[in-house]
Amino acid sequence: MTMNETSPHAKGMEEYMNRGIKEVIIEHPELEKILDGYDIGCGACMVGTCLLKDIVEVHGLPPETEKALMGRITKAIYPDADIEVPEDDGKAVVRTFTYSPPVQTLVDEHVLIKRLIALIPCINESLDLTTEEGRQVVFDGIDFIKTYADSFHHAKEEDLLFKYFDEDSEIVAAFHEDHRNARDHVKNILEGVAEQDSAKVTEHLGAYMELLQGHIKREDEVLYPWMDRDLSSEQEAELARAFDEVDVKFGDVNARYGAFVAGLEKSFQ
Ligand SMILES: [Fe+2]
Ligand SMILES: [Fe+2]
Repeated sequence: MTMNETSPHAKGMEEYMNRGIKEVIIEHPELEKILDGYDIGCGACMVGTCLLKDIVEVHGLPPETEKALMGRITKAIYPDADIEVPEDDGKAVVRTFTYSPPVQTLVDEHVLIKRLIALIPCINESLDLTTEEGRQVVFDGIDFIKTYADSFHHAKEEDLLFKYFDEDSEIVAAFHEDHRNARDHVKNILEGVAEQDSAKVTEHLGAYMELLQGHIKREDEVLYPWMDRDLSSEQEAELARAFDEVDVKFGDVNARYGAFVAGLEKSFQ
């Protein structure tokens, strides 16, 4: 990701590439639209500390596409830069994702988590914290989040997959921070139930939904493909064995929570 050393803006661009994306977007809001054109939805990421250079690298774009993207970014920051930028190549990017077998299991687990969070607007609409039954709806949802999404799924990520990578890197740290923020929302939801504060519960359930929807999309489309590109076949096999051990430890969670989500979907039909 080095710019042409002889160009007058090369040094400036090197500096931009090493800055956090949120900060760069605040300074140059037009970059958000450019990145969106390449299906890089960084503006929606609530963390925003990932470095611009890592974001470009992590998406693994074809070389020509990456070159065009870099040209557009440079032109946005330095409008006088002598760079040819193709008309509209960004929309032509069609990305398909294939995963190693262990990472595929994480993608599969996301499907159930997405089904649960898709029900959050229904939970919020019918929220009734004044009755035992009403509170139980929230407790059941939180049980799913704590046991399935966090202990079972996030533990596979944090305790196993992420360990193969530099956890101090901005990219991995951003995903850790999403997990921490998700736990904070859960804490606030439970406090809200205890205080019978419907506004607090609704606010944090909604925020959890928004956070997790973006988080899962970024894992499926950015983080996992990037990690998969680096994992050796030995590491994949090792990870698959470690995931199997987690599955054994958690027993029938997929069947149990699958039935729970299906029942909840039915109750809101
Ligand atoms: Fe995650
Ligand atoms: Fe995940």
